[in-house]
Amino acid sequence: LLCLQFFVGGNWKCNGTKDSISKLVSDLNSAKLEADVDVVVAPPFVYLDQVKNSLTDRIEISAQNSWIGKGGAFTGEISVEQLKDTGCNWVILGHSERRHVIGEDDQFIGKKAAYALSQGLKVIACIGELLQEREAGKTFDVCFQQMKAFADAVPSWDDVVVAYEPVWAIGTGKVATPQQAQEVHIAVRDWLKKNVSAEVASKTRIIYGGSVNGSNCSELAKQEDIDGFLVGGASLKGPEFAVIVNSVT
Ligand code: G3P
Repeated sequence: LLCLQFFVGGNWKCNGTKDSISKLVSDLNSAKLEADVDVVVAPPFVYLDQVKNSLTDRIEISAQNSWIGKGGAFTGEISVEQLKDTGCNWVILGHSERRHVIGEDDQFIGKKAAYALSQGLKVIACIGELLQEREAGKTFDVCFQQMKAFADAVPSWDDVVVAYEPVWAIGTGKVATPQQAQEVHIAVRDWLKKNVSAEVASKTRIIYGGSVNGSNCSELAKQEDIDGFLVGGASLKGPEFAVIVNSVT
């Protein structure tokens, strides 16, 4: 089996001030990060410029959302072109908070992914089931349907990282067990194999998100099909985020 380059993203969500972000950036700048890991952080839009101008080039920058097409008369939205202009090269799409708090649907998310990729922005494509869906035995159905929406929209998976984030594990401190995560990761890889191609299945990173921290990351990282993490809360602490980055096995 191919060993894929480990990928760790820090999703800062709607947190931070100029001051707290400047502290976080300086902690990240002085952190020792393993060389063979892709590291990306996603600040809130309004701080992208500050982070781009102060963060080491070792770490790439992601947006937390993007508009579905070219900019223009779309009040309150941020275009892919503007994100690229600020120095972002990634965008997180389909995050559960966008799906379940804001109400974005599969088709809308698919369109955003296709447009971002067409403009050269790489995509962290998020999927994951709600607690009641897991309890109803629908975890795979939900994840596969979300995968299908991405697959139907994107022309290529070269610049896509899939993030499996079970919604019940996000911000709850209730992390999926390594076995629970591995079971979904391998199923998603298998879905890619059957529905896209064996090559895409073997090359696409599938990362885990949901209450990852400095203490639970290494057990998760040992799982065969966990190729990295998307970290929320713990990514707001530079030293702890570095521990997670360095959990690569
Ligand atoms: O995108 C990362 C995320 O949703 C996980 O958040 O705070 O549970 O690590 P958290």
